[in-house]
Amino acid sequence: MGFIIIAIDGPSGVGKSTIARKLSTELSSVYVDTGAMFRCLALCWGRKGCPESDLALQELGEQTRISFEDEKIICDGFDVSDEIRSEDISSLASRISVYPSIREIMKNKQRSLVKEESEAGNYKGAVLEGRDIGTVIFPSADLKFYIDASPQIRAKRRYLQLLKQNGDFDFQEILTAILERDHQDKNRNVAPLKAAKDAIIIDTGNMNIEEVMQYLFECVDSSKVYT
Ligand code: DC
Repeated sequence: MGFIIIAIDGPSGVGKSTIARKLSTELSSVYVDTGAMFRCLALCWGRKGCPESDLALQELGEQTRISFEDEKIICDGFDVSDEIRSEDISSLASRISVYPSIREIMKNKQRSLVKEESEAGNYKGAVLEGRDIGTVIFPSADLKFYIDASPQIRAKRRYLQLLKQNGDFDFQEILTAILERDHQDKNRNVAPLKAAKDAIIIDTGNMNIEEVMQYLFECVDSSKVYT
């Protein structure tokens, strides 16, 4: 058994992070949140006020150091785990992710990160979540999942989550932001969000997290990739 790679793709707000994190813990695998990497670049781009061009973004991508340490994401030496989660960064990340230079840099960074982990030998494999893991980054991943739910359901989940944090939020605004990001992520020319042909598609619309996890583990078991 080699280093097992599991790809988890799907649209914004579908719960990929929760799913990927739980799966990685259970499978003694390293968890790679590729969206967080795009968010780091978006944060640096906003801060440095770089022009919006493929070349400027390429330079930014080449200069920016991104790493995962425990549960934290470190960008150019600073812990940016909380800062990158704002709504502004969500839409900036989606916006810059359409540029071919950024996608190329991210592809190389993600592949080398997994290679380093594989060589270090601390984990049995890697669980990567994103938009193009099963289609572009690791097209020969051992197992691929595409997690989906309607924009309305995702917006409602996000709305309820924000309400718990005692804020004043508008459901319609949340839905509009989700629809915009879906449109951007699914319609870009390079590596658009779509399910790989051999991905297991899970619509979580009528499922709770326990049911999703149970189904995922059943798929892992029946795939026999760990035997
Ligand atoms: O998963 P996330 O919401 O944190 O990702 C933020 C944005 O980054 C997302 O809207 C599109 C982009 N992204 C991408 O293009 N490819 C990935 N593999 C992961 C994220």
